[in-house]
Amino acid sequence: MEKQYIYIVQASLELSKCKIGKTCDLERRLTEYNSMTGKSQENVYRFLFTCEVSDMATMEKDIKEQFKADRENKSREIYFYNSVKFENYVGFIKSHKLFKEEIFIKSEDKKEVVMIVKKTTPSLEERGLTHQGVMERAKRIKYDEFYTRYEDVEKEISMYNKSIWQNKTVFCNCDDAIDEDDRKTSAFVLYFKSHFKELGLRKLICIHYAGKVDLFNQGSKAYIAYISYTTDGENIYKDYPKNYDGSFDHPVSLKILKEEADIVCTNPPFSRSIDFWKIIIECGKKFLIISNIRIAIHSAYLPYFKNNQVWAGYNRVDYFLNPKRQLTDAAGHWYTNIPIDNRPKYERLKIMPLKNIPEEYKKYDDSKTLLVDNCYIPNNIKKPFAVSARPILNGLLENGYEIFNDKEYIPRINNKTQFSRVLVQKI
Ligand SMILES: C[S@@+](CC[C@H](N)C(=O)[O-])C[C@H]1O[C@@H](n2cnc3c(N)ncnc32)[C@H](O)[C@@H]1O
Repeated sequence: MEKQYIYIVQASLELSKCKIGKTCDLERRLTEYNSMTGKSQENVYRFLFTCEVSDMATMEKDIKEQFKADRENKSREIYFYNSVKFENYVGFIKSHKLFKEEIFIKSEDKKEVVMIVKKTTPSLEERGLTHQGVMERAKRIKYDEFYTRYEDVEKEISMYNKSIWQNKTVFCNCDDAIDEDDRKTSAFVLYFKSHFKELGLRKLICIHYAGKVDLFNQGSKAYIAYISYTTDGENIYKDYPKNYDGSFDHPVSLKILKEEADIVCTNPPFSRSIDFWKIIIECGKKFLIISNIRIAIHSAYLPYFKNNQVWAGYNRVDYFLNPKRQLTDAAGHWYTNIPIDNRPKYERLKIMPLKNIPEEYKKYDDSKTLLVDNCYIPNNIKKPFAVSARPILNGLLENGYEIFNDKEYIPRINNKTQFSRVLVQKI
C-alpha cells in the first residue's frame, strides 16, 4: 500500500499563510506547487513540516475541523500562519492517533528556503543533551508548565466588548514572556501586542518568572516588560529589578498590580492557584484568567462564586501545549469578574419541574439530598440540591439560583463516595 503523508507548505511571498494538505508523493507535490502557473519566479514554496500518517484523508478532515477558525474563508486548504499557530498545527498532527512518523520539520532559526524532503529531527547528541539530562528535566516539570494556545486567548477575548480595554493597562503576571521570537513569547502577550491599537490599550505589562523551569527560554533573570505604542511606534522596555524572581506575589509584582494594572490576564500556575486567586480577588482589579474547570465547586474558591466576585468566562480550554509544544489535554476554563453579555451557554441549562427530569439524571444520596446531572435543574423545589461544576460554568447562578454554602459537597450513596458537587438552591 502507498505511503500517505500530511504536509504544511508555505510560499516565500505569503508568509502569513500556509497550506496543510495530504499527498502520497511529497516531492511531486512540492514540484507541483513550484510549477503552478501564474506564480512569480520568486515565490518559492517550501515544506515547513511533513509526516507519514496511516489515513491522510481522515487526518486532513480532523485538521480542518480542529482549526476551522484558522482557515482562510475562501479556500479550505489555506490556514493562517504565525509561529505559534504553526506549533499548534504540528502539535495537533503529532498527537493525532493516525500520526506515524515525522519526516521533516523546519529548523527553528533557519530562515532560508528548504526544498529537500528529508528527516532532520536532530538527535539528543546533536542538541547537546543526554538522556539522563532530559529525564531529570522532565521530572522537574510539574503541572504548572503548560503554554496557553493563541487561539484560546483569541477566542475568549474576542467575546468581550472592545470598550472594556479602552485606555487600560493589562497585566500578564504569570510567566508571560516577551521576545522577538514568537515561540518565546506567551500567547497572552502576542495577542495583546497584535491587538494593542484595536483594543485601545494604554499599556501592557508582562512578567517573566525565574522559576526552576524556564518555559519560554528567557534565562534565569526575572524581568518586567513594559509595552506601549507612541507615534514613533512600539516601545518595549525590560526592567530587571535586583533580587526579583518575577513571582506574582513578590512585593514588586504586587505594587504593579496595585498601582498600575487595570485588568489582569494570564494562566496562573496550577500549584499556586489558591494564592493567586486570593490576591486577584482581594486587589479588586478586573481579571480574565484560566483555571481548572472544577474550581467552581472547590471549597477554596466557592465563597468567591457565592459572593458574586467571580463567574465563568465564555469558553472552556480543552488543550494546552506541553513544554515540547505538543497538544495536551487540559481541563481549563476562563474565569472573570468582567460582565458577560447574554451568555450563550444559558441554553445548555435544562431548567424544569423535578418530575420532568429523566430518572437517570436525578437521584438521592444517603442523606436524602437530591443530586441532578447533565445540567438538569429542578425549578420547583425549595430545598438545596447538588450539581456538578458544569451548570455553574453555564451560568446557573445568573438564572435565579444561589450557592447554598461554602463547602464542596461529597455525596455518598449506599455508603460509597460519589464525585463531588456543590449545593445550590432556588432564590
Ligand atoms: C500554566 S503556565 C502558563 C504560562 C503562560 N502564562 C501561558 O499562558 O502560556 C504557568 C506559568 O507560571 C509560572 N509560575 C510558577 N510559579 C509562579 C509564580 N509564583 N509567579 C509567576 N509565575 C509562576 C510557571 O513556571 C509557568 O510558566
